Amino acid sequence: MKRMLSGIKPTGRVTLGNYIGAIKPFVSYQDEYEMIVFVANLHSMTVYQEPKDLRKNTKDLIALYLAAGLDPQKVTLFLQSDVLEHAQLGWYLGCMVSMGELSRMTQYKDKASKIGKNESIGAGIFNYPSLMNADILMYDPDYVPVGEDQKQHCELARDIAERFNNRYSETFKLPEPIVPKVGGRIMDLQDPTKKMSKSDETGKGCIYILDDINVSKKKIMSAVTDSDNKIIYDVKNKPGISNLLTIYSILSEKSIPELEKQYENSGYGTFKKDLAEVVGQELQKIHDRYQEIIQGDYIDTVLNEGAQTARRIARKKLAKVERKMGITIKK
Ligand code: AMP
Ligand code: TRP
Repeated sequence: MKRMLSGIKPTGRVTLGNYIGAIKPFVSYQDEYEMIVFVANLHSMTVYQEPKDLRKNTKDLIALYLAAGLDPQKVTLFLQSDVLEHAQLGWYLGCMVSMGELSRMTQYKDKASKIGKNESIGAGIFNYPSLMNADILMYDPDYVPVGEDQKQHCELARDIAERFNNRYSETFKLPEPIVPKVGGRIMDLQDPTKKMSKSDETGKGCIYILDDINVSKKKIMSAVTDSDNKIIYDVKNKPGISNLLTIYSILSEKSIPELEKQYENSGYGTFKKDLAEVVGQELQKIHDRYQEIIQGDYIDTVLNEGAQTARRIARKKLAKVERKMGITIKK
């Protein structure tokens, strides 16, 4: 079995974009690949987190992974901070990357271009790709499923792996990023030219998975479309409808052409009403399982077992790295 690895930061409330772009695909991969999935809580510290919110978001994210169908018998699911080796390897790899490379990362560049005169950017935002490189390279995955915005960080991981291998001999596998072809970028329901995001200020264009289901259905009903009243997939001219078709297609497992045919003679009202039902049903299933999972100590058990498995791999890898670099002096 090929190995696949990915992580999600526990910042903010989980959105439909996260679910469609990351959580749901992981569930579909678990039978085909050896999956390693973690909650990237060290990464969340690049921006200040209210401690009580961070605790809640972290627990919710794990519960949502499980509620969405990730099976801990098949998947190694853990909390990044439980495996100390990540930070250690992150330091070594951070010493092998140049400031030029880090400053070319678009996420950092975006932040840097937006700050005001008297503001400054935390060094964590600049450095975090090194930690992400460590998260990835530690486990020698074949594939790293990520959203479009994270592809560049995975490519940096490949470069750093090659650099390490050339300098110290073969140590790391070169991972390949995979970006889902459909659903890699769910758009905001009020402004379908921008990504649906946790950091949306009004929250009107963003569906939060754990929100009241009626609120989410209303957001679908009031999604921005166009005046053409034809249900056709055309991202350039009809970004709103195309986004809704993408959501519908993924949640119903019907293809987009199939849906276009089904709604050939319908208007936006009918289409949105049906989609609101589809979204509502999916959310209801998740809410029911979430309620069971969040009680008791199931999450603790899953995380303890996941961390043990991850630690076994990580310790071995870090020991190898430290031997090769000359950090270790014991024979
Ligand atoms: P973030 O919310 O940016 O921390 O992203 C966590 C994961 O969800 C990453 O794999 C993202 O690429 C994915 N993701 C976030 N927002 C969306 C979106 N609007 N559409 C698809 N995937 C998304
Ligand atoms: N940086 C990623 C994000 O912001 C999360 C992440 C951390 C990650 N480490 C990773 C994703 C390793 C894939 C592999 O979404």
